[in-house]
Amino acid sequence: MKRRLQALSGCLIIIGSICFSNLAAQTNPVIEKKIDALLRRMTLQEKIGQMNQYNGFWEATGPAPKDGDAKTKYDMLKKGLIGSVLNVNGVQNVRKLQEIAVKETRLGIPLIFGMDVIHGQKTILPIPLAEACSWDLKAIEQSARVAATEASAQGINWTFAPMVDVTRDARWGRVMEGAGEDPYLGSKVGVARVKGFQGTDLAANNTIAACAKHFAGYGFVEAGREYNTVDIGTSTLYNIILPPFKALVDNQVQTVMNAFNVINGIPSTGNVMLQKDILKNKWKFKGFVVSDWASGAEMVQHGFAKDLKDAAAIAVNAGSDMDMESSAYIKHLEELVKSGTVPVKNIDEAVRRILRVKFLLGLFDDPYKYCDEKREKEALYNPAHQSKALEVAKKSIVLLKNEGSLLPLSSQQQKIALIGALANDNNSPLGSWRVCSDNNTAIPVVAGIQQYTRNFTYAKGVTVYQGIHDFIHEANINYTDTTGFQEAIALASQSQVVVMVLGESGFQTGEGRSRTELGLPGLQQQLLERVYAVNKNIVLVLMNGRPLALPWAAAHIPAILECWQLGTQTGNAIAAVLFGSYNPSGKLVMSFPRSVGQVPIYYNHLSTGRPDSVELVFWSHYSDEKNSPLYPFGYGLSYTTFAYSNLKVQSSNPTDVRVSVTVTNNGNRAGEEVVQLYIHDKVASVARPVKELKGFEKITLSPGQSQEVQFRLTDETFGFYNNNGQFVVEPGDFDIMVGTNSASVLSTHYYKN
Ligand code: BGC
Repeated sequence: MKRRLQALSGCLIIIGSICFSNLAAQTNPVIEKKIDALLRRMTLQEKIGQMNQYNGFWEATGPAPKDGDAKTKYDMLKKGLIGSVLNVNGVQNVRKLQEIAVKETRLGIPLIFGMDVIHGQKTILPIPLAEACSWDLKAIEQSARVAATEASAQGINWTFAPMVDVTRDARWGRVMEGAGEDPYLGSKVGVARVKGFQGTDLAANNTIAACAKHFAGYGFVEAGREYNTVDIGTSTLYNIILPPFKALVDNQVQTVMNAFNVINGIPSTGNVMLQKDILKNKWKFKGFVVSDWASGAEMVQHGFAKDLKDAAAIAVNAGSDMDMESSAYIKHLEELVKSGTVPVKNIDEAVRRILRVKFLLGLFDDPYKYCDEKREKEALYNPAHQSKALEVAKKSIVLLKNEGSLLPLSSQQQKIALIGALANDNNSPLGSWRVCSDNNTAIPVVAGIQQYTRNFTYAKGVTVYQGIHDFIHEANINYTDTTGFQEAIALASQSQVVVMVLGESGFQTGEGRSRTELGLPGLQQQLLERVYAVNKNIVLVLMNGRPLALPWAAAHIPAILECWQLGTQTGNAIAAVLFGSYNPSGKLVMSFPRSVGQVPIYYNHLSTGRPDSVELVFWSHYSDEKNSPLYPFGYGLSYTTFAYSNLKVQSSNPTDVRVSVTVTNNGNRAGEEVVQLYIHDKVASVARPVKELKGFEKITLSPGQSQEVQFRLTDETFGFYNNNGQFVVEPGDFDIMVGTNSASVLSTHYYKN
């Protein structure tokens, strides 16, 4: 329904409420009938069992457990009191558990097997933050397809990905798992990943259900500290945090995971507004919501539930359908239903949603469809997957600086010093959140470079961390050993060019890995400066899982490549860019700060009342640092250069607005450019950001070639969510900007009637 309202800036149109358009899946009547029939046969306990998810609890291919917790859970499985397991991997293990569910329980309802397949199963693809820097939606989709193909071949049919939390704070360790700071790009990337995981046929044996997480606001944990409180205004909630989730729901994501955090005083897991009002009612989401790991139980710590029983009632009544690992439902829901605290219809609703996804996956037709040993063998590390991984890894690399065209290196003439522990590390490049990978399976930089030249010598210089450092242990980065410095410095002084691979270890980002410093950890900055003192010809190859603040390097080092953690094919991808067989085309998806004190720093901020520098001190600024980032959102260079000209807006009527710009490759190599379109709504009933990304196009141009790039702007482009969660489109003046990054654009105007 459209209606006209009077607003501050004149006339506005409200289009629907919360949702701009609703594309959420319709249910299939045949499946719904089957669910009806099953629900009629299920006891209350069996229903609650479907809502209970446990972590893999015993070695499935070994003997059945005789006592303890594993024995209890094993017995529960046989009674149909577990609907899903996570972290059980491999055809044999999955088959064993599925056989118990199907053959030994009263109703034979198959299990759904969840796993954090975040950026690959065995073949590891770039961390999601890196991959997003490709701005290449096809490549991102294919990357998720590789992950789904290998995961499904190992028995997995549900991944807890993609994470679509918009993130502005590089201190938060989980920025590596998302697509950065922009909701528009984040939506596109998230949808591409869902398409890759779920394919076009969810019932196929090589597609898996995806999960939009963490609903909602987890990317805004205060001060970037893991699991911290989230307190954000409605405008940020509706315009920044929710849009990627909505986009995924519109594109049939099958599941949503709620979050650990409290949002505006209400834990996400017990949040009626988020899970019921918005997700299920307004967006018409038909899949199910899974809690985050024991996030139901954590509501007690949050001071929102008095005990586990209370937490169970709050969570289920708020629409959290499946309980991951807290046992709250299985212990308490039966009693809560009997006492009338939880209406049985809420249980039926949750179970219906869970069964619906199981039916859509085809698990009732063939519960063992993902359990084929032959396929498992063929799929893992398949050569076709390796080439996809290499392709997306190359596309993820961002060239930050290239003074005097130091890059690409020539494989013929130069004597190269290769320095840094990360250059010879085959584990760190796999990054965090690669649960099923085999350790030490990345191609290290050293091996990649060998394919282009033998004229290099390697010196470690310094380690990045010491002590046990893996998925569950903390790293100790206060390393004090400088004994490797001398060798590295001597080597650098005898070489023409120095390639230094510095950054973070693979587990310095990820869950539980927040940092207060954003520089190079440990002694690496010191090493960099010592090497620079003897040889300024340095190519700094950064390997890290979050934006870093490296003002000294940006000022002194002539060439800097942001290579993130690129997965299995790391060495090959980096070497291809270093030696110019691939021309870098990635663009940053998070602003790089000059200093940690600027964080959170993001391009799509509002204007303050005092944005401009004045002689006196009373304007919005720091007295010891600039406001601008070191490298802005959307930034990234190429070995060629591009010129923008001829920006035009043409509109025959308000619903047909076209923007065009000419992009010319005025360098001497073929290259790819991400052409970015931003708008600024100059006066609105709710203040709008100074810039908002609203379109992008990745094009390839040969030297001298020009191309006109066109964008079509619709009401969806111009509108925004007001503070009641309504999508509104207001007439008024807009800046229309197109350029190579968020800080470097051509600009024109458009008046929207
Ligand atoms: C994380 C989730 C993840 C879950 C299962 C939690 O700690 O927050 O993102 O999917 O564990 O491993």
